[in-house]
Amino acid sequence: LSNGLAQTPQMGWNSWNFFACNINETLIKETADALISSGLADLGYNYVNIDDCWEALTRDIKGQLVPDSKTFPSGIKALADYVHGKGLKLGIYSSAGVFTCQVRPASLFHENDDAATWASWGVDYLKYDNCFNLGIKPIDRYPPMRDALNSTGRTIFYSLCEWGEDDPALWAGNVGNSWRTTDDITDTWESMTSIADLNDKWAAYAGPGGWNDPDMLEVGNGGMSYLEYRSHFSIWALMKAPLLVGCDVRNMTKETLEILSNKEVIAVNQDPLGIQGRKVKVSGTDDCLQVWAGPLSGNRFAVVLWNRCSEAETIQVSWDTLGLDSSITLSIRDLWKHEDVVTDAVGSFGVAVDAHSCEMFILTPKLSHFKI
Ligand code: GLA
Ligand code: GLA
Repeated sequence: LSNGLAQTPQMGWNSWNFFACNINETLIKETADALISSGLADLGYNYVNIDDCWEALTRDIKGQLVPDSKTFPSGIKALADYVHGKGLKLGIYSSAGVFTCQVRPASLFHENDDAATWASWGVDYLKYDNCFNLGIKPIDRYPPMRDALNSTGRTIFYSLCEWGEDDPALWAGNVGNSWRTTDDITDTWESMTSIADLNDKWAAYAGPGGWNDPDMLEVGNGGMSYLEYRSHFSIWALMKAPLLVGCDVRNMTKETLEILSNKEVIAVNQDPLGIQGRKVKVSGTDDCLQVWAGPLSGNRFAVVLWNRCSEAETIQVSWDTLGLDSSITLSIRDLWKHEDVVTDAVGSFGVAVDAHSCEMFILTPKLSHFKI
């Protein structure tokens, strides 16, 4: 969507994966504080997004959406002011249906009123869900909210959460800044890996202004191992997925913070070229040895060697898999070790990768290859 936003994938935090409906204004403020104090905000995580359950069970007497008076007694405008005061942005949630998924009022047929309400509160981001949609096609329900947001005059990020219904990559490029490609993620290795595969299918449709959304990060929520979360974060970054933290950032372990704050992996996600990396080569039992890769600015490549097998294995990438002449010399930087590991690789490169882990690299051709 050409509203000036999403030139790179959005980064921030969302309440749903860890807190579900257990949210309130104190949590949102403490989260904003923690994004700053942990250093995550400085790394680009700037959206603080409230998911479902912020609303009262009914609209007010004028038909306006109102926050739950017990959990958000100061109102959303005050919260937006607080978050903006920290240099961050505030996101809100509704559904392109008659109720949200947790059966709160939603915005189908109220697009203009609700967009105006959010704009008046200073909201910067809308996640727009798909529950209670009366069986109306997404392509008919999502554009009206785009137009309503646009007509407020406030620049609001528009995140479509249509669960991949009707292949949004094919039609959402001029509707939203991102669109979900799949069902909801859960905090398991099986869910994460299967979602990565499903999202891969739509790589060609992602780019500055509109991104495929394989759902929010589960890093730090406890259902996967450190190495599995490292894989999750690496692949999401390579796929140019939104990097929306889904854990309790007030109580992160050192390992969780280490994963989420890997600057070099984030830089792959935020690379200005904006090309979604793909699964480019598989081998092994059930294709469990995988090479994922994609081009970066400056003629570089990002490569993830991903071991989805149950034993450590060596995984190799050859230059022809990347579309490069095998005689080219590349230097290789390891984004998890933060080290230049090889300065003159020719033809291919391989390393041992632990089970359910990945290693991530940037491959840079020698400058001499570009001399005329
Ligand atoms: C749907 C969405 C989730 C979350 C919940 C909230 O399942 O896909 O991301 O927003 O609704 O109820
Ligand atoms: C069902 C649920 C929603 C959401 C979607 C995702 O419809 O009711 O909350 O999780 O699945 O596919």
